[in-house]
Amino acid sequence: MTASFKTLPEPHTRPGSGHLQDWALGPLPLIEQGAQRARLGGGDLFRLRLGGPAVVGFSPAWNRRVLTDLTTFVSRGSFSAVVPYLAGGVILTDAPEHAARRQRLNPGFGRVSVERLRERMRQARTPVPRQPFDALPWADETVRRQLNAAYFSGDFDDTLLAAFLAPLRRPFPVPALPRPLLFRRVEQEIRRLAERRLVEGGDDLLSSLAPLPGGLTETRISLAAAHDTTTHALAYALWALANRPEFQAADTHPAVLKEVLRLYPPGWMGSRRLSRAVEWRGTELPRGTLALYSPYLTGRDPALWARPLDFRPERWEKPPPAWAYLPFGGGERTCLGLHLAQTLILDVLAETPPLRARWGNDEPHPGVTLGPRGPLVVERR
Ligand code: HEM
Repeated sequence: MTASFKTLPEPHTRPGSGHLQDWALGPLPLIEQGAQRARLGGGDLFRLRLGGPAVVGFSPAWNRRVLTDLTTFVSRGSFSAVVPYLAGGVILTDAPEHAARRQRLNPGFGRVSVERLRERMRQARTPVPRQPFDALPWADETVRRQLNAAYFSGDFDDTLLAAFLAPLRRPFPVPALPRPLLFRRVEQEIRRLAERRLVEGGDDLLSSLAPLPGGLTETRISLAAAHDTTTHALAYALWALANRPEFQAADTHPAVLKEVLRLYPPGWMGSRRLSRAVEWRGTELPRGTLALYSPYLTGRDPALWARPLDFRPERWEKPPPAWAYLPFGGGERTCLGLHLAQTLILDVLAETPPLRARWGNDEPHPGVTLGPRGPLVVERR
């Protein structure tokens, strides 16, 4: 006998609005309470009422299922579909077309290609100020300039790029509003540069994307997926080092970054839609359910991590349990920009002089991506 999904535990609800209001005002306490209630009942899934059926799971088994069964857990109709910045290209393409699209994109973003872009990104870096500065806008600017260098050899109008990316980090509903004029200007700029690449050739990311079917859309969509995620991870990593001089040596930075991404994953919630009914541990989840996985909840689960809330890069001396660490997702849809983001961040950390934290607020603040509430004021030591 399978139970109805209505029997799943759920966080506290408000009369009339289900979880919509708490989801909008403070989703982290809401999902933490849901996970707590699921654990008390011995489960790994809870439900949310967000205007329709939704479930959130956080165990490695759930993550694995969501991320490997691409025909059941589909992107069409997920949260990305309601954010025009992310609604398209490879992000919204489902199996079986997804695999071929990814295969075409992968070489441009692979290790070898990123290695070739490295020096160009380094040259585009924003200098570290001599005076105390807020690491969050500094990270934002340096990531934007380095992405401009990697994608367009720095040829994209920087003011337009900044204007394009700015709404993404504002609270909902701002990122979900349609912006036809702005998007058209960005597409024109991408097309102008792509046409040059097709004639003159080139060795930046646009040169590999321009000849692909839908390559200009993939360029715009992947840029939007790249910017705030990398900015937030970099800002948290700078703050972590500024608070912990013992991790100054570059050989400890990979573990510092892993720990940053475990506790503060910019992609804090992944979403899919069920294309058919699914039975999960004796509960029937109806077709059309919004199915969520959470790198944030899994990364802080006491069943998976010793003293989960402590920042301890030493824990990375051993590999984590399978499907327990997902800051870049997993399976066939693993983040396209993983090497690019890691290389950019680790290179910035290696070349930033030792910093000291002055004051700030590093409380996680979830929007389209999760980042520090800020500011994070640091200075050179
Ligand atoms: C620290 C930085 C980054 C983090 C934490 C991050 C996180 C993620 C996560 C969690 C996913 C999977 C989402 C899901 O399962 O629904 C993803 C997918 C994706 N990411 Fe990233 N990302 C980062 C940087 C980048 C960069 C630099 C790019 C630029 C190319 C990028 C482009 C993409 C794309 C296109 C996808 C969709 C892949 C697909 O569906 O096949 N990301 N990212």
